[in-house]
Amino acid sequence: MHAGHAGHAGHAGRADRQRLDLRRHQETPILLRLVMAMWRNALAAQFCAGLALGLTVSFLFFGNNHIISSRAGIRLTRNYDTDEISHRGDVRKMAMHSGNDEWSEADHEAWDRHSDGQSDNSFLINDHHMHEGDDDSAARELAKKVKVMIWVMTSPSTLHDRAKAVRDTWGQRAEQLLFFSSAHNKTFPTIGLNVSEGREHLTAKTMLGFRYLYDNHFDEADWFMKVDDDTYVIMENLRYFLSEENPKDPVYFGHHFGLIAAQGYYSGGGGYVLSKEALRRFGQKGQDPMLCKQDGGAEDAEFGKCMERLGVKTVNTTDTLGRSRFHCFDPETHIMGGYPPWYFKYDANGGKKGLHSISDYAITFHYIYPSKMKRLEFYIYHMAAYGVKRGFQHLNNPPKDRVPIKPIYRDPLKKT
Ligand SMILES: *[C@@H]1O[C@H](CO)[C@@H](O)[C@H](O)[C@H]1NC(C)=O
Ligand SMILES: *[C@@H]1O[C@H](CO)[C@@H](O)[C@H](O)[C@H]1NC(C)=O
Ligand SMILES: *[C@@H]1O[C@H](CO)[C@@H](O)[C@H](O)[C@H]1NC(C)=O
Repeated sequence: MHAGHAGHAGHAGRADRQRLDLRRHQETPILLRLVMAMWRNALAAQFCAGLALGLTVSFLFFGNNHIISSRAGIRLTRNYDTDEISHRGDVRKMAMHSGNDEWSEADHEAWDRHSDGQSDNSFLINDHHMHEGDDDSAARELAKKVKVMIWVMTSPSTLHDRAKAVRDTWGQRAEQLLFFSSAHNKTFPTIGLNVSEGREHLTAKTMLGFRYLYDNHFDEADWFMKVDDDTYVIMENLRYFLSEENPKDPVYFGHHFGLIAAQGYYSGGGGYVLSKEALRRFGQKGQDPMLCKQDGGAEDAEFGKCMERLGVKTVNTTDTLGRSRFHCFDPETHIMGGYPPWYFKYDANGGKKGLHSISDYAITFHYIYPSKMKRLEFYIYHMAAYGVKRGFQHLNNPPKDRVPIKPIYRDPLKKT
């Protein structure tokens, strides 16, 4: 294969992912939605028949969807989202009207549409309260020790919903958080990079983003992470993972794809974290177009090739039980499967799925649109099961115990 093809393959990957996103969350035709709803109901039956755990899981990740009974779903959502819902007269009236009756497909449909895309600006979770017996001192201790600066790639058109949801949810727990766009906005605030919007310029956005960090913030952190504005980050788990890594190692971490570069590269949407040494190398040599493509191609793949040429290594970021921590899809997709075909070719760990393939200390998920961001916030940080106290697990694979990534991957660029 030649160079053109490699670039194309990477690009197709990201483009497909984008299409999946659109199809799922915004423009799903009604018929397809009905089929999806029926599919989910079938899954619900399996879950109930099988495991007691099933209910918890479906509740955890599907919230007010169809898997739990519609009534329970309404009650929960009402209690929780009182403010958010109060001015949505139509949906509320519909829910009231249905009373104790079963919902029709059309009701489900309307509710699904309501909970999917339409995030509003009234969301205030402000959930910094602690419950009796809670103790977050270990997490706070790590936040003092592990300095990670995160930049969120956003754009003027997604600033008001996606970037705002990041800022209002997990962004609250990030100590150093920057938003990079193609336009300055003093009030948000965002930093405007000298770049045009559009998929074909994502590579430039990433290159300029990390350049900005190197030029302006290099001394302020040990780790530097890039995420999209539909990435959800569990900050405590990120810091736990980084706490046993060495920022002086030329390494970077993320959701590992085993293609394009000999050592593979990381998915852009799953987020990737550079060590200080990796950013130093990027800052010193990353402007050389022979080493790093400055624009065009698929952003994550190009950045991966750049890292490889700078001697920055990919790492197996799974936990001690081989479970994934960075994710390029949402939790539902990683639990249920239903991956697009390209994923099995790309994922370095063979496209595993299911509860047991995901680390208890998962770090990122992708395709988390604003309303889902708020849901995750609720399930991870607000809700708890009475009488269940959870302890600490040791799930890190520190560098000394780790098998290095073998550069065995097919590299279409390399002439043999
Ligand atoms: C800048 O951000 C503020 C606050 O999010 C927003 O109200 C305003 O419309 C933004 N300005 C532009 C030009 O996008
Ligand atoms: C912005 O980018 C363009 C094209 O890459 C370049 O010609 C221009 O000098 C840049 N402007 C600044 C302020 O860096
Ligand atoms: C990462 O480690 C797990 C076990 O800890 C192993 O199953 C998996 O194959 C490794 N992945 C790669 C790409 O080496």
